[in-house]
Amino acid sequence: MKELNVAIVGTQFMGKAHSNAYSKVGDFFDLPAKPILKMACGVNEERLRQFANKFGWENTTTNWKKIIQRDDVDLIDISTPNDSHAPIAIAGAKAGKHIICEKPIARNVREARQMYEAAEEAGIAHAMIFNYRFVPAIALAKKMIDEGKIGKIHHFNAVYYQDWLIDPNFPMTWRHDAKASGSGAHGDMNAHTVDLARYLCGEIESVNGVEKNFVKNRPFSDGSGMGEVTTDDCSAFFAHFQNGALGVFQGTRFANGRKNYLRLEIFGSEGSLIFNLERLNELEYFNRNDDSDIQGFRNIIVTNSTHPYIGAWWPVGHIIGWEHTFIHEIKELVEAIEYKKPMIPSFWDGLKCQEVLDGVSNSARKGKWVNI
Ligand SMILES: NC(=O)c1ccc[n+]([C@@H]2O[C@H](COP(=O)([O-])OP(=O)(O)OC[C@H]3O[C@@H](n4cnc5c(N)ncnc54)[C@H](O)[C@@H]3O)[C@@H](O)[C@H]2O)c1
Repeated sequence: MKELNVAIVGTQFMGKAHSNAYSKVGDFFDLPAKPILKMACGVNEERLRQFANKFGWENTTTNWKKIIQRDDVDLIDISTPNDSHAPIAIAGAKAGKHIICEKPIARNVREARQMYEAAEEAGIAHAMIFNYRFVPAIALAKKMIDEGKIGKIHHFNAVYYQDWLIDPNFPMTWRHDAKASGSGAHGDMNAHTVDLARYLCGEIESVNGVEKNFVKNRPFSDGSGMGEVTTDDCSAFFAHFQNGALGVFQGTRFANGRKNYLRLEIFGSEGSLIFNLERLNELEYFNRNDDSDIQGFRNIIVTNSTHPYIGAWWPVGHIIGWEHTFIHEIKELVEAIEYKKPMIPSFWDGLKCQEVLDGVSNSARKGKWVNI
């Protein structure tokens, strides 16, 4: 069988999730090429070695430029903080490597556009990790919307709540430094909901937002004092969609009790769809055309073999989880590379998402509506 040599940059949270996906995808899906875990790159040599041993990466390096120079690397996976996405992606594209990059695509639209243009110029396959598109319930929602099941969309409401930053003594990380991350909860969490909004409801034409920082200083983890938090803890905004729908969004890391609560409520002229990531195998559907005496939300357990991606997994009712979303996306990318078909979501989607994110931040600064 043909092989696709993968190199990954970043060995912690996303590095683990993606390593798992490259290892497992060929066991469950018939692929045109088998991903080979060729090379892993991280900054700490000891942790990198442990990571490579655990997940089965063949080689390691602490310098991502070494990956670019290798002839035996076909695909580079960027799982690092946001400030390194653009330099790695642009250098990788110029060297003819296919690229898959974590969200948000970059720190701002300027970097995002450079990445998109470099990838297109090089003619490589480029993918954005917007993994929630690959939750079967979300893919089913997309199919139902495209089939007109909920009619014309009036409202697209999205919240993304976490609570891991409530403690003011939680230390500084790259996520609290605008130079490393671009923005805080906004780019981290709203990147997902903006992408889902574009996927399910269409393009956004204008936004009006607010951003809020609740804890201004946090301790450095090495005990060397306090650092200044330069990113938002929460970002909320209204949006007008090109199709006339109204959007309401909020992303916050200060929602006490909410762990990874991404909830979509989509209200259309003929029905409604509700999704909650904490119950990701389920999709609630209301059909206004049901007989009035039996009308109500029905809860679809999205585990039938006919549901998107599910046929590759377990018998009906045997649920899947968050890690499967990455496996599904890697399957799509391997097929896109080998069959030379467009990958969706691509850097184009990363760029379009970043335009909305930057638009919201501009709006929050100016205190008025901003056109995208
Ligand atoms: N899709 C999702 O659901 C999701 C969830 C969390 C994070 N993310 C995204 O994934 C990316 C990484 O986030 P994370 O939570 O895994 O961060 P993390 O802090 O857990 O890990 C970052 C890794 O990058 C490494 N690194 C940093 N600079 C490097 C460099 N120059 N060369 C090599 N390695 C380097 C670090 O050593 C670390 O291993 C971010 O863009 C983030 O927004 C996506």
